[in-house]
Amino acid sequence: MSDTSFILIVDDNPTNLSVLAQTLRSEGFAIRIAPDGVSALQQLEEVFSSVALILLDVQMPGIDGFETCRRLKANPNTHDIPVIFMTALADTESKVKGLSLGAVDYITKPFEGEEVLARIRIHLQMRELTKQLQGWNALLEQRVQERTSALQSTQVQLVQQEKFATIGQLVAGVAHEINNPVGCIVNNVAPAHQYLNSLTKVIGLYQKHYPDPEDEIQQALIDEDIDFALEDLANLLQSVQVSALRIKDISVSLRSFSRNDSSTTKVLADVHEGIDSTLLILQHRLKPSGKRPAIQVIKQYGDLPQVKCYPGLLNQVCMNLLANAIEALEEAMENKEDFTPQIHIYTQVNNTPTPSITILFADNGIGMSESVKQRLFEPLFTTKPPDKGTGLGLSIARQIIEDKHFPGCLSCKSQLGQGTEFIITLPV
Ligand SMILES: Nc1ncnc2c1ncn2[C@@H]1O[C@H](COP(=O)(O)OP(=O)(O)OP(=O)(O)O)[C@@H](O)[C@H]1O
Ligand SMILES: [Mg+2]
Repeated sequence: MSDTSFILIVDDNPTNLSVLAQTLRSEGFAIRIAPDGVSALQQLEEVFSSVALILLDVQMPGIDGFETCRRLKANPNTHDIPVIFMTALADTESKVKGLSLGAVDYITKPFEGEEVLARIRIHLQMRELTKQLQGWNALLEQRVQERTSALQSTQVQLVQQEKFATIGQLVAGVAHEINNPVGCIVNNVAPAHQYLNSLTKVIGLYQKHYPDPEDEIQQALIDEDIDFALEDLANLLQSVQVSALRIKDISVSLRSFSRNDSSTTKVLADVHEGIDSTLLILQHRLKPSGKRPAIQVIKQYGDLPQVKCYPGLLNQVCMNLLANAIEALEEAMENKEDFTPQIHIYTQVNNTPTPSITILFADNGIGMSESVKQRLFEPLFTTKPPDKGTGLGLSIARQIIEDKHFPGCLSCKSQLGQGTEFIITLPV
């Protein structure tokens, strides 16, 4: 019980009052008294916060103890103050009624001083403990809420990373499956060419030494247009070879895109290879569709050295930046006619102030307002509808560039209605 708080005794019997008051005072408790229910409730209106406990007589003129208790419990200000009934009625029914109204205890008259004190002490202690628990509970709840929102944001982040990893695995799997059949084509085209040469040679010899074959053969040579077929077959094999080699390149790019390197060490990698493989994955979004023109990609690659980095993570950054650029261009295309959507990708080496490389992605899409520019790197900030954007792309990109590739830097310049530039600087 604090210094300013007291026990309120509510009783209409002066003898009871003085006995109780004396007992409590002699033990150092501060007390106040009220002669009936109504005046107790009146007092409480002003001092409720200082009342540590209420001793409440049951039988009183005016409203009785039960009714007084009911009103105390109905009022949020006095709801939590522990009430102990004092009753001359030793009957069980009254005790049960008192307790069911929210009293914490009862004492039966005539009083046994020691018993009254013991009960009061216990209830004061319990009240203190309850208050402490409530405080801890509030604190806990706040902590839980903080943790939950942190968790939520981490979870969304994880989901995106997982999605990315899954795509990576899928892509790597497809690339791997393509590899064998394509290898078969590439390896067989050369011998097929040789066999064709042999056949052409032999047929030529036949024609030289037997210029007048049977009618049936003569007719077949004309019908099948053999001279053309042989010539065309050679061209055809040539184009099969070129196409197969192209598929092989794609498969290599796909595997390079999906390089799994959440691994702990950086490796030397070709940044351009990463950009190109990402462009390849996004190819379908760059192509023209319906009325929409193709998005032009203009590359100006500098003479970059290999860079020590996490190539898979850098690909993820390129993916996020290019996807954003495509989305900004798509939106621009909705509103503008005669518009040539473009993405410029520019790389260069810098020797000052410290050796580094710059990778720049610029689009001539919708651009950003000042308020968007201020928030774009915030996790979960998005201007896109929920099914389109999670608002994590750039926060993840920044984390990858500035934390994972410290002291890298990812910055942005943008003009509303004109376009946007993202600039990556990586140390070498
Ligand atoms: N190239 C850009 N042009 C115009 N606005 C952009 C561009 N890149 C990003 N923004 C703005 O920044 C916001 C945040 O981008 P961020 O990539 O973090 O999330 P998002 O693209 O909305 O969702 P997602 O999680 O799918 O990437 C976008 O909603 C958009 O308003
Ligand atoms: Mg994005």
